[in-house]
Order: sequence, then C-alpha cells, then structure tokens
Amino acid sequence: MSSSRVGVALSKRLSKIKSYYENERHVWDIGCDHGDLGLSFSDNQSVEAIHLVDPSSKVIDQLQIRIKDSYITIPKINIKQIKGQKLTIEKQNNIIFIAGMGGKEIGEIIQSLLPLIDSSSKIIISPHKNILELRVLLNQLPISLIDEDIVFENNQYYQLIVLRPDNSVSSSKVSLYGSLLWTKVHSENYRDHLLKYFVHHRGALSIGYVNYLKSLVF
Ligand SMILES: C[S@@+](CC[C@H](N)C(=O)[O-])C[C@H]1O[C@@H](n2cnc3c(N)ncnc32)[C@H](O)[C@@H]1O
Repeated sequence: MSSSRVGVALSKRLSKIKSYYENERHVWDIGCDHGDLGLSFSDNQSVEAIHLVDPSSKVIDQLQIRIKDSYITIPKINIKQIKGQKLTIEKQNNIIFIAGMGGKEIGEIIQSLLPLIDSSSKIIISPHKNILELRVLLNQLPISLIDEDIVFENNQYYQLIVLRPDNSVSSSKVSLYGSLLWTKVHSENYRDHLLKYFVHHRGALSIGYVNYLKSLVF
C-alpha cells in the first residue's frame, strides 16, 4: 500500500514549539484543534505514536477526515476525544504540547499529568491568558524550568515555557515574572507591550509585575 504523509505547514509559533522535540517516542498535542503540531511529526519514524487530544467532537470529526487517506502506520496516530485533565498517558518518553489554551486549563492539565510521568518527559506550554496565575502554580509544583521564550507573529506575542517533571531541591523553579524570558530576541519589545497592558490593572500580582518590568535593564 502506498503511503502518503499528512501535509502540514507550521506557523512560526508552532515551529518554535516543535523545535523543543529531542527524541521522545510519544508526541502529545493536547488541545490540538487542527492537529498541525502533532501531525507535523507524521514523517518522523523515531516517534512511536502521535496523540491528538481535544474534547470537541467537531475537531475530532475533522481530524478523522484529515488523516483518513494518509495510510500512516509509523508513527501510529491516536485521536482522543477527551479533556486534557482526564487523560491517561505513558510514564516515560513523552513530549507534551499544550498551546493556545488559558492558564487555568493548562495548570489543571499539568497537575493531573504530573503524577503519571517521570523526568524522561517534557512539557511545552504556550498559554494565551492568565499567565501570571499559572506561573504562581507552576512555581509550587515538582517541575523544573528548562527554557522560556517569546514568539512574535501576526502582531502578537506568545510566551513559551518548557518544563520537566523534577522533584529535586536543586531544580530551577518557574519564576513569577519569568527568568530566562528577558534575555531573548524580543524581550525588550515584549516588556514594553506588557507594560502598556498591565499598567491599568490594579491587582497585587499585576502591580508587582509592572514594577518588575520597569526595573528590567536591556
Ligand atoms: C485555540 S485552540 C489551540 C490549537 C493549537 N493547540 C494551537 O495552539 O494552535 C484550543 C483548543 O483547545 C481545546 N480545548 C479546550 N479545553 C480543553 C481541555 N480542557 N483539554 C484539551 N483541549 C481543550 C479546544 O477544543 C480547542 O480545539
């Protein structure tokens, strides 16, 4: 049987997220929607399985249609209609992408997955809102920060945070305002953008954030 791959052109944001792949055997695209990120691994034969996860039946129907004629057997493509909070997952060797969701959902999903996986897995997140609240939570979890970055695309900034399960006392914790974030290519413009947004917020977290952002020197 001839085998055709699923054609995928990734956005700049998704390409950057994908760039954190090393050699993990299980690719999880949680909140996958179009499935582009997960399906972009369909020509990677060192990936055992691509798991496309989304609770929306419309999304799942469209994904089924999309992969119907692709005849891909390696990697295996699993489509799961479920919330990320209810997912069961392999213990080892996962790369878990959670992008384009709010900080609250991402925090809940990470909390439910953490007890199931070990430090051979990596989690890459890109929350689109409530990032400060999510950072407060991440700081308290047994998880360590590997990298943070900023993507600028279509006039929008996106934060990426790369994490690994880690219970050791020496792990680098996720910080409230970002640590590695402020040495990246778009740092200064992103700081200016955030200042314009947060300066009107009166909550304690936001006020602290504005003071921190003002103190940054580039
Ligand atoms: C804006 S899309 C993001 C698509 C893709 N990840 C990206 O970044 O381009 C958000 C997707 O998350 C899904 N979603 C919402 N809540 C979810 C949850 N609790 N668990 C998993 N997926 C969820 C939605 O159905 C939707 O398809």
